[in-house]
Amino acid sequence: MAADIPSFTLNTGNKMPSVGMGCWLGPSGGGDVVEQMCKTALELGYRHIDTAYGYFNEEKVGKAIRESGVPRCEIFLTTKLPNHHHDRVAESLQESLDKLGVDYVDLYLMHWPMAYTADNKPIPYGQSPTFVETWKDMESLLETGKVRAIGVSNFSVKLLEVLLKEASVVPATNQVELHPCLPSFELKKYCEEKGIILTAYSPLGRPKEYDGKPVFLTDEDVVRIAKAHNATPGQVALSWGVQRGTVVIPKSENPERIKQNITLLKLTDEDMSTLDELHKKPGMHRSLLRYHSYSDDGKVFGWTYEQVGWNMVKGGIIAT
Ligand code: A2P
Repeated sequence: MAADIPSFTLNTGNKMPSVGMGCWLGPSGGGDVVEQMCKTALELGYRHIDTAYGYFNEEKVGKAIRESGVPRCEIFLTTKLPNHHHDRVAESLQESLDKLGVDYVDLYLMHWPMAYTADNKPIPYGQSPTFVETWKDMESLLETGKVRAIGVSNFSVKLLEVLLKEASVVPATNQVELHPCLPSFELKKYCEEKGIILTAYSPLGRPKEYDGKPVFLTDEDVVRIAKAHNATPGQVALSWGVQRGTVVIPKSENPERIKQNITLLKLTDEDMSTLDELHKKPGMHRSLLRYHSYSDDGKVFGWTYEQVGWNMVKGGIIAT
């Protein structure tokens, strides 16, 4: 049975469950682990799975869906166009559908605004295929019935403004890193005004991969709120995400945590404002993912932070 959680209505009119299973398991794709994780999730009531061409596991996700016994039409399935396919959108979608073994996806996202060459070299900002050109090709997919909605990922306000000037279809969603250390209020307000639902990737801050600095799951306020609700810090972070109107897609391969992550709490107004303010504590306002800070040349996938529209301060801290 589907879990009792809210759904958000996309600008297409379709519903998107507010909690999904995120399927990034690193460059290996995760193999049988991702298959088992998706099966467990579907058994425990998840009806939303988020993968990507670049997660290297679409076959396993598709197999899990087929073998779960849950009808395809009850599952909200997202996949994403990789950077090196920006100039062959229809072909890339078909490759993803073939790997997934499905006729359509509920949501197809441009994974990053940057395009790469076929041999994976970043194409400079403004050179063809631009993200606007790629978006126009994605718009054409809607007529094919192979995608129910299209959206973007990793788009800043700055890039959305460029896109929306040229777009015929407003993206249904924008999937970005979001959690209490990176609440991105400005982007959220902008997307709300435009009718774009934000999806939070790494809503738990990818705690195992982080480099040892304190993350929000061990913050004293988060732990206190969790205790008050007889729940875990992870549930607090995810419930905050959904209650503020964003979709969350936590990854877990652990059955206990898979269950926890779709068991949402009813946070009080005071809890919500404490969590909204958490990033203001010293050192807490930052991205927790490497591509926001690992580039020595001050670039992310070949573009300057200014071109991407990210407000970077040294060390991966985001100032606004
Ligand atoms: P595991 O798969 O062993 O549960 P994110 O989705 O933010 O990138 O985070 C994913 C990471 O968080 C994974 O390492 C996952 O480990 C861990 N994780 C998933 N759910 C929880 C939870 N409820 N509490 C703590 N850690 C979690």
